[in-house]
Amino acid sequence: MVEDIELLKEELKENLSEKRYLHSIGVMNMCEKLANKYGGDVKRAKLIGLVHDMAKEMSDKEMLEYVEKNNIEVSEVEKFVPQILHGKIAACMSKKRYDFDDEMCEAIAYHTTGKENMTLLQKILFVADKIDETRKYEGVEDLRKIAFKSLDKAIIKNIDETLKINLNSNNVIFDESINTRNYIIMHKKTK
Ligand SMILES: [Fe+2]
Ligand SMILES: [Fe+2]
Repeated sequence: MVEDIELLKEELKENLSEKRYLHSIGVMNMCEKLANKYGGDVKRAKLIGLVHDMAKEMSDKEMLEYVEKNNIEVSEVEKFVPQILHGKIAACMSKKRYDFDDEMCEAIAYHTTGKENMTLLQKILFVADKIDETRKYEGVEDLRKIAFKSLDKAIIKNIDETLKINLNSNNVIFDESINTRNYIIMHKKTK
């Protein structure tokens, strides 16, 4: 597995806009903080934090071509909003280029919506992505505080807020967001 953070940083810096690069560094740093707080694997958390958005600047057309070529399963909703595929594509790239393990690749694949039964590492990336230092939206301070008390509470709060936005804007809702929320509520985990 490629573990050289400096090398990955250089690669990202060349390929991403400055804004996205700074967000990637922010998420990496937040992954480190959350992994320390909750006893997660700091090294692997930083690696996935750094590369999670490596595919985000591809066009819709490029994304749809990539998933087709690489036999990535795509739902009708994902086809409708191809941008959501940036997670699955980055997961596939990370496997091929860096040989990241399955838990890391799944974390990257589902960093936007979450999924049922997420591991600690996967929850750390989901939350870090929403609260890194470059995020400025209303309520982010609140979510940062919650994140250091309970990852599950932070996940539910973020999904609730995102659902509200999508309902109000008449956008599609991703099944995985609902499944993530239901799973946490039904299992009442505390982390
Ligand atoms: Fe993302
Ligand atoms: Fe992100």
